[in-house]
Amino acid sequence: MRFGNGVQTKEQAQEWIHARIESYEKHGFGAYIIVEQSTNEVIGYCGLFYVPDVNGKHEVAIGYRLARSRWGSGYASEATQAVKDYAFNHLNLSRLIATIDPENSASIRVAEKLGMTHESNVMFEGYTHPDYVFALNKQ
Ligand SMILES: CC(C)(COP(=O)(O)OP(=O)(O)OC[C@H]1O[C@@H](n2cnc3c(N)ncnc32)[C@H](O)[C@@H]1OP(=O)(O)O)[C@@H](O)C(=O)NCCC(=O)NCCS
Repeated sequence: MRFGNGVQTKEQAQEWIHARIESYEKHGFGAYIIVEQSTNEVIGYCGLFYVPDVNGKHEVAIGYRLARSRWGSGYASEATQAVKDYAFNHLNLSRLIATIDPENSASIRVAEKLGMTHESNVMFEGYTHPDYVFALNKQ
């Protein structure tokens, strides 16, 4: 809530889910649900997002979000590693980015653990301050 778009209505949430489903059709990738093996509960998502304009370039971003009750258990690190491997080795993407609020220390740490580095900043429309652009190029 703090670093995202705030509380969403049911319609906005449905629109978001619809856009994620469309992403599979348009780009061949999207967001993946994270299921906790011990409880079989859906605890968040991690996946790939096509971003049409990051400082004039189109990019594929890795995004992640977990239920608060599951923070700090290593799930984001595990999920981002799996999505990165899938993106580079199965989808044959050559680069991933993550756009992160400079104050979102947890997310920055997740990106760093994935091997990403702070490459530039981006000012998205409607935002009050720039986000960091973390990036990782396939070796
Ligand atoms: C960001 C988020 C996905 C991290 O998930 P998580 O499963 O708790 O992350 P992990 O347990 O894998 O921890 C990853 C690293 O971040 C560190 N970390 C976790 N919370 C932290 C915090 N608040 N401040 C600093 N570091 C933090 C962990 O210690 C770990 O580093 P380490 O292995 O060196 O100790 C989770 O906090 C979240 O869902 N936040 C809200 C949504 C969001 O901000 N998404 C990202 C938008 S860009």
